[in-house]
Amino acid sequence: MLMLDVEKLSASYGASQILFDINLKVEEAETVCILGRNGVGKTTSLKAINGICRPKSGNIKFAANKIAGLPPYKISRLGIAYVPQGRHIFPNLTARENLFIASRKGDNPESQWTLQKIYQLFPVLKARENFKGKNLSGGEQQMLTIARGLMQNPKLLLMDEICEGLAPLIVKELQEIVLELKKSGVSILLAEQNINFALAVSSRCYIMEKGQIVFSGNTAEISQDTIRKYLATQ
Ligand SMILES: Nc1ncnc2c1ncn2[C@@H]1O[C@H](COP(=O)(O)OP(=O)(O)OP(=O)(O)O)[C@@H](O)[C@H]1O
Ligand SMILES: [Mg+2]
Repeated sequence: MLMLDVEKLSASYGASQILFDINLKVEEAETVCILGRNGVGKTTSLKAINGICRPKSGNIKFAANKIAGLPPYKISRLGIAYVPQGRHIFPNLTARENLFIASRKGDNPESQWTLQKIYQLFPVLKARENFKGKNLSGGEQQMLTIARGLMQNPKLLLMDEICEGLAPLIVKELQEIVLELKKSGVSILLAEQNINFALAVSSRCYIMEKGQIVFSGNTAEISQDTIRKYLATQ
């Protein structure tokens, strides 16, 4: 089943158009990544899908729902969770309180995320459950934002640059976590600058340049030439 179907999506901030006719799809239980250099429109694409940035034109279908133009809270209730770039946890709430701030029940009582399941996937969050958000390390904060997203029991999880600013060892840990998470059946759309991480966890990828999708394909088929052409930073 197609979980997300984005067709000819355009979006602007004020007078400046940022996204131009984006087409992308995510199947049920699939992990897909959006790659691209700084400022190409990865975050804006995720925000247009979750309603934070109102699309200018185009269609967005999520499961059976047309969601383009709906407010973010309605999109979130339908089952899309968003892990924002830069983490945005509540610094003065404990890790445990952060987890419950946006939790909601999903449609299927059998496959609910519970605190127990979250702590199995992220043992460090159990060890830190009474720590204030601001006293967690960068990696722990990132795990907390992902776990908070899961507590919404989403069908689709949007994750924006979850590796940003983290040490290679932590990135490796996140990679294991995302691979484990895939087994739960949730669909995942990642925006990433960390190419190795993104390709290791995704089955398909889209590459953006200047607000447009310039490449799409299976991650196994992406060539070094393509990476050099669209993603090399020098
Ligand atoms: N709130 C905003 N108002 C105006 N312009 C914005 C706003 N947010 C982003 N932009 C511009 O939109 C373009 C795309 O930004 P976006 O954040 O989507 O890129 P990105 O691919 O996520 O980049 P990065 O890799 O740095 O996160 C950039 O030129 C950026 O300056
Ligand atoms: Mg971004």
